[in-house]
Amino acid sequence: SDTLRAHAEARGKFIGTAVATSPLANESAYRTIAASEFNQITAENAMKWDATEPSQNQFTFSGADQIMAFAEANDQQVHGHTLVWHSQTPSWVQNLGADAMRSAMQNHIARVAGRYASNPVLKSWDVVNEVFEENGSMRNSFWYQKLGDSYIADAFRYARAADPDAELCINDYNVEGINAKSTAMYNLVRTLKAQGVPIDCVGLQSHLAIQYGFPGQVQENIQRFADLGVNVRITEIDIRMQMPRDATKDATQATYYTNMVKACLAVTRCTGITIWGFTDKYSWVPDTFSGQGAALIYDENYGRKPAYTAVHDAL
Ligand code: XIL
Repeated sequence: SDTLRAHAEARGKFIGTAVATSPLANESAYRTIAASEFNQITAENAMKWDATEPSQNQFTFSGADQIMAFAEANDQQVHGHTLVWHSQTPSWVQNLGADAMRSAMQNHIARVAGRYASNPVLKSWDVVNEVFEENGSMRNSFWYQKLGDSYIADAFRYARAADPDAELCINDYNVEGINAKSTAMYNLVRTLKAQGVPIDCVGLQSHLAIQYGFPGQVQENIQRFADLGVNVRITEIDIRMQMPRDATKDATQATYYTNMVKACLAVTRCTGITIWGFTDKYSWVPDTFSGQGAALIYDENYGRKPAYTAVHDAL
């Protein structure tokens, strides 16, 4: 049939969406599109630390399990997001001393990644998320302040031990084109590989905005990571605009979606594309970027936008 997922499958790639647990439970129109158009899903929030371990060693998997059950029912793969991040991580973690923090990280990864290790639907994890500053230096997060950059290699080793079959990724934003931040990521991945750290994949979030222009040398950037021997995925694409939406902005947005999909398709090791939601009814953009929105491929009434056609025709 003529769905995004059918076209992606024919090309050996995934096309995915982030899913939120509330509309997944409550809205059949949301469920129908999420199931029929996508062969991959990522939990928008349900697998994050604040959702899975809100207090120390007290794990709650209701949202995460809900996502997994939906994927199993609809023959979709799941990308786990995310094990170690500076955001959406409880203050109890942030307040630990160095040794206790490293132990808490190991325990968290063992329990969360370990829970789904035997489930073939769970294919990959964002092990670390957003570890760089824009200039390419290490982000000065509580992780870095307490543990130095060793927390990154440790996290990958703990993740491999917890789920030996999952593809293990480092994920970040503003690393789609070639720039200081993506070059820092490239250098880190090369170093980790040389040290034998189990890293398999790089995630390019791809939170773009039409008013900032399309990033330069995206395909070349994907290719240089692939040449290091890691896979690449587009993990969180959305393409926002200054509101109100109009036909000109929609057309520019559609072109950007086309360009990102084509850049991924052009590189064998680029395994697929995940959109950060699908309907403008549920998107983090208006809550996060004042005055901006309409970043997804369906409008708020589940109507297909030019961006849908762009992704469809590129696949
Ligand atoms: C966002 C979610 O979409 C929001 O619902 C939540 O309030 C904040 O986080 N980079 C990431 C994602 O890796 O986890 C973020 O998701 C968007 C930016």
